Amino acid sequence: MKRIVSGITATGNLHIGNYIGAIQYLLKEQDKNNELFVFVADLHGLTIPIDPKLINQNTKEIIKLYLACGLDPKKVKLFVQSEIKEHTELFYLLSTLTNIGQLERMTQYKDKMIKQKNKTNVIPTGILIYPILMVADILLYNPDSVIVGQDQKQHIELTKLLAQKLNNNYDLKFKIPEAQIVKKEGGSKIMALRNPEGKMSKSDNEKNNTIFLLDSLEDINKKITTALTDSENKIKYDPIKKPGISNLITIYSAFSNLSIKEIEDKFKDSNYKNFKEEISNVIINRLKIIQSNFSKLTDKDIKEALKLNRDEIKKIAANSVNKVKKNMGLLNYVN
Ligand code: AMP
Ligand code: TRP
Repeated sequence: MKRIVSGITATGNLHIGNYIGAIQYLLKEQDKNNELFVFVADLHGLTIPIDPKLINQNTKEIIKLYLACGLDPKKVKLFVQSEIKEHTELFYLLSTLTNIGQLERMTQYKDKMIKQKNKTNVIPTGILIYPILMVADILLYNPDSVIVGQDQKQHIELTKLLAQKLNNNYDLKFKIPEAQIVKKEGGSKIMALRNPEGKMSKSDNEKNNTIFLLDSLEDINKKITTALTDSENKIKYDPIKKPGISNLITIYSAFSNLSIKEIEDKFKDSNYKNFKEEISNVIINRLKIIQSNFSKLTDKDIKEALKLNRDEIKKIAANSVNKVKKNMGLLNYVN
């Protein structure tokens, strides 16, 4: 049995990129009876200023979506990051093992610096330091692997580095966790529908770029219909020359369970219009079920799901932090 950690940040609505890149993968692992720690990263949601009402609403919505997609709280340890105080405690302890240069080299920080023209007086501190919180999220549970999309690989590298540092400098025995990234071609990075060179994301100004899990069925259809393709009218996987159609093939593959090759064969005499209709159908069929489950879930269901494993999760997290504190030389009389 493997222990696996995964989290989703509580910003904005979940989309099919999150579903294919993370949730669908979690469902597979749940079926294999691995030990899963799955959480909503609400503290990460505070990295950039956000309305308190919105973060509260997002957190609940993501828990509900996890459940609606099929995560079973009897099999998976489902929780909200800020409810387990040890995340912030380990975060600080780990920050003493990093240096500023290491954090400044992270892609997300560099992107922000370019966008904000190096004006550090307007860039929130959280953008720089949040990778350390992510490392804490992971090491608290000492997992074998972490389920993430391709874009998070750099943070897993930092996790490995800090786990090694803890082990070497403080005589601890943390496992060095591996990034577990969706293997399906391209599935770890679903691209924006109208701009297949960029990633599908929660916060895109062009609303036709992203299919949200709670989109109306008409919107899903419209977004697939208006997805950017090319003039060749040939359903062939080639992410360099045909990024739009390749992205649609990847999406279809994730929802139909057909391989890229099987899809190319199935649609070899077809055209983009028919292919798009088929894609809309498979997405709508799945999202209809998820949306119907979602609409039946209540606040009480969320509370119960979160209560189920809270004590055990807290115990594991507290145990990890206490070991680190002790070996770092901090007094530990209260525990
Ligand atoms: P985020 O939306 O950034 O909190 O991501 C939550 C999870 O979904 C992470 O494992 C991401 O790497 C994954 N994810 C986010 N966007 C995509 C995308 N466009 N394609 C595939 N996976 C994604
Ligand atoms: N930073 C991750 C993202 O944006 C979300 C996340 C936070 C996470 N902590 C984590 C994912 C720990 C895996 C493990 O996608």
